[in-house]
Amino acid sequence: MGYNGERRDRVDATATAGLAGKRILLGITGGIAAYKAAELARLVVKAGADLRVVMTASACRFVTPVTMQGLSGNPVYTDMWDPGVPNNMAHIELSRDRDLIVVAPATADFMAKLAHGLADDLLATLCLARECPLAIAPAMNRQMWEHPATQRNLATLRADGIAVFGPAPGDQACGEVGMGRMLEAAEIFAELAAMTGPKRLAGKRVLVTAGPTFEPIDTVRGITNLSSGKMGFAVAQAAAEAGAEVTLVAGPTPLAAPPGVARRDVVTAREMHDAVMGLAPRADVFVAVAAVSDYRVANPRQTKLKKDGGPPRIELTENPDILAAVAALPQAPFCVGFAAETENLREYAQAKRRKKGVPLLAANLAHEAFGRDDNALTLFDDAGEHALARAPKIVLARKLVAHIAAMLGKR
Ligand code: CTP
Repeated sequence: MGYNGERRDRVDATATAGLAGKRILLGITGGIAAYKAAELARLVVKAGADLRVVMTASACRFVTPVTMQGLSGNPVYTDMWDPGVPNNMAHIELSRDRDLIVVAPATADFMAKLAHGLADDLLATLCLARECPLAIAPAMNRQMWEHPATQRNLATLRADGIAVFGPAPGDQACGEVGMGRMLEAAEIFAELAAMTGPKRLAGKRVLVTAGPTFEPIDTVRGITNLSSGKMGFAVAQAAAEAGAEVTLVAGPTPLAAPPGVARRDVVTAREMHDAVMGLAPRADVFVAVAAVSDYRVANPRQTKLKKDGGPPRIELTENPDILAAVAALPQAPFCVGFAAETENLREYAQAKRRKKGVPLLAANLAHEAFGRDDNALTLFDDAGEHALARAPKIVLARKLVAHIAAMLGKR
């Protein structure tokens, strides 16, 4: 998920609906960012959720249980051996009736515990004993974050289906600058609201393409583009949050697939085309976010090109247009195209929507979108034009998914 380090403290009022009546457990571990957990608790309670708080012993050194008790309106649990809990089974009792557990901040130590299934305190034990989804908001010094052990644990947690919010780059309490700052309370709140929000695409199968393609010139070189895959991955995440069964066909990108999303890795446009055409007949919605190379090399070499022969002649041939091919299927899914333009956005986007024969097209300016964590989009459909202001890509993706769901509802 992408946050560019800017502070975003505002809460999107429309996002709070999903949390009303939800039973949330907030776990707090021992980091300086624990102070933000107090604000998070306030937002979650204000949105109408029932909040229980569990703190580790180290967390209690940064914020007091009394603070969290006051904000949550409920007793705070810090001890595995609390005699006040019926059956002395706090780890089971506390995890069983919850809709979601969020650990914020999650220290490097706590991530390691989760990754290894340790259960040596109340919070780690109830995370292990839970039946509900778990999300963590990591917070730590940048070197601890970048350490191979933490990155290994992160990969394990993601593979285990745990949602990871942030962290963000920025100023750190230790005086250093880098990756590891916990998201702001309002940002974590928005993530929780998205996880618990209305399942607008429940029962729908959504197919998404993302990232660049790579067209080989020889065995070590190729033609590609600057697409990072972030927007497509955000669309896949937003569709999964909305309850869809999502398959992501991804070109070369180091990004991790969002939780609950099936991923198919491809390299060339033709591989992407073949994967998509195999999956499209089962899809209800197809969102083509990938920056597909329009051309491939007609005569790629099977060995590395040598300089001796002078500049090579590279002949190009056209790639299949995946979006147009899906839109032309007899039982075509609801198709959404993306357009990356460098000028005349409106005119080119509308022409592209007609040419590709799709009901909805999202247009952006390539230089303002490629590789960045945020973007601005304009949606074009039969009803006209809808501008989505600059925001993190995941926020835009959620708005796009809500727009798709509304259009599907009217069909
Ligand atoms: N697309 C696709 N297959 C291709 C090329 C593009 O599926 N071979 C999809 C993209 O994923 C995007 C949309 O078509 O959703 C627009 O792609 P773009 O490259 O901007 O449009 P082109 O039709 O290639 O037009 P141009 O490059 O001339 O702007």
